[in-house]
Amino acid sequence: MCGIIACVGRGDDTLDTLVHGLSKLDYRGYDSAGVALTGSGDDTVEVVKRQGQLDALRRVLETARADGAEPRGTVGMAHTRWSTHGAPSDANAHPHTDCTGRVAVVHNGIIENYQALRDELAANGHEFRSETDTEVIPHLIEELFDGPEYDPADPEPAIREAVARLEGSFAVVVSVAGVETLFGARQDNPLVLGTSPRDAGSAGGERSEPRAGATYLASDVPAFRAFTDRVVYLENGEFARIDAEGWTVTGTDGEVVQTSVETVDWDPEDTGKSGYDHFMLKEIHEQPRALRQCLQGRVDEMGGRVTLDVDVDPERVQFVACGTSYHAALYGAELFRQAGVPAQAFLASEYATSPPPVDDALVIGVTQSGETADTLSALREARSRGARTLACTNTVGSTAARECDDVLYIRSGPEIGVAATKTFAAQQTALNALALSVAQERRRAGDVRDSLSALRELPGDVQAVLDESNAEALAEEFVGAPSYFFIGRGVHFPVALEGALKLKEISYGHAEGFASGELKHGPLALVTDETPVFAVVTGDGPLATKTIGNVKEVESRDAPVVAVTDGRSKVERYADHVLEIPEAPPRTAAVLANVQLQLVAYHVADRLGRPIDKPRNLAKSVTVE
Ligand code: AGP
Ligand code: GLU
Repeated sequence: MCGIIACVGRGDDTLDTLVHGLSKLDYRGYDSAGVALTGSGDDTVEVVKRQGQLDALRRVLETARADGAEPRGTVGMAHTRWSTHGAPSDANAHPHTDCTGRVAVVHNGIIENYQALRDELAANGHEFRSETDTEVIPHLIEELFDGPEYDPADPEPAIREAVARLEGSFAVVVSVAGVETLFGARQDNPLVLGTSPRDAGSAGGERSEPRAGATYLASDVPAFRAFTDRVVYLENGEFARIDAEGWTVTGTDGEVVQTSVETVDWDPEDTGKSGYDHFMLKEIHEQPRALRQCLQGRVDEMGGRVTLDVDVDPERVQFVACGTSYHAALYGAELFRQAGVPAQAFLASEYATSPPPVDDALVIGVTQSGETADTLSALREARSRGARTLACTNTVGSTAARECDDVLYIRSGPEIGVAATKTFAAQQTALNALALSVAQERRRAGDVRDSLSALRELPGDVQAVLDESNAEALAEEFVGAPSYFFIGRGVHFPVALEGALKLKEISYGHAEGFASGELKHGPLALVTDETPVFAVVTGDGPLATKTIGNVKEVESRDAPVVAVTDGRSKVERYADHVLEIPEAPPRTAAVLANVQLQLVAYHVADRLGRPIDKPRNLAKSVTVE
């Protein structure tokens, strides 16, 4: 959600750099966009902003350019807004300025004490032009500029003082007219600094021109990755000042902080669609590779061992996560219980409401982005109670990765589609390996050996599902159904939940997932001959037999049944349609069944012409609670 890209350079390409950066943040989901530029000698910061997608802003900028009136300057900032305070509108879009137009601010997050600040500033004569919480920031800085201490040559003390008065979560960047420096601060919202290589050969890759003498601040690396691969991840409470010559990072006490410059090794081309119509479809098809990457070096089938870069053998496990990652957490909890470790999965947003005793629990935050505010807050709650924490994430350098005691990377590669697909499969697979590593510690060797070969087969089996799936034809048959239901037991229960979430996220159709046994306790009232029921039934054990019983219940209410199955239970006798998967033990069959359901969701949404990669109201990374 919401993105920031800001840059101080030397040339006349600042505006292009900003628009390029915004296009790279586009995937996060937003409702308006804007830019602000200034240069030496300016009295005000020039702002252009528009409600809607980036194209709306681009059109205004192109018209301005044709008229020779585009904003100019070597210092610029840009923003994509995901509204929290005030509806999407031109006025509420960022950047926001003070009354004089000297100070411009972009902000991600929520200023919790904005009402008190706004009342105070309004009483002092400040006129507000938006409904946002953000607008208090430039006015507060303006107020401090008017104080006797203020030195126009150095706005930093006033900006620091304003930031110190903010409560809540924020990444902010501040620009002051005529000053060729940008100022950035963060609290519980990501902000990354990009520093240009002095040596042009060391960054950028073949496709991008390194811009020596430019420095960047952004909410995420892709915003400036085309220009540099050298980044500094800012920590909570840190304050950055950047100019064309370089940068400094200081702590709340004003002392310089020793930061490390890291090199990011992924390539911007990884984020192209490679011929697929949507990122989501590309990412579904990337799953075999993602799972190979996830497992590489971790599974030694010959030696019968899982070797992970984290070493845990917890007494108990609590998972915290949201959305799709919560479904992966439910799956992980089931596997830990099977390994003999008591484990529970919590919705991160509920965890802090009545936190369970942590005692000797390992608290695992499952979050592909590593930036989800609810999950970070649950992990911090657990830490404050003395728990050891582990981040299961895709994002190196993310807040979760940095704040937790241990990290288990899922290594799926960048995921752009708002609907999580390959990251879910990689979360399942990484948690599977983690639970196996614990089983191995506990000498449940049988569990491990049986599962290792299934893990080795998994990427190929996913490929087989992708190659042979009939999900598209099935989607055609059921597109427009009034409701879709998904059922499963054990490790397939989270798959049922995930199948429903995927379908509702991208098709906007009504869909619900249930534990198979729950259907008869209420939801059965909704089942009709128009509501397809997708039943995940694999193997031929007692769970399959019980779910077949539930399938019969819906079949006798004339509901069309789609069995997602390896065929061993013969559930197809009671099903109208089959989505077939290769034979595999339940824990890996859950990954394979999910791939079929991803394809169903994708093709239903595609038939309906939905904006699959950026569904309405949703954001890729939800950085507010
Ligand atoms: C997934 O399709 C959703 N867009 C969403 O539920 C997501 O899984 C959730 O917001 C958690 O994100 P995270 O994994 O980055 O923490
Ligand atoms: N709370 C701010 C607003 O509603 C910032 C939202 C965002 O992070 O984009 O404008």
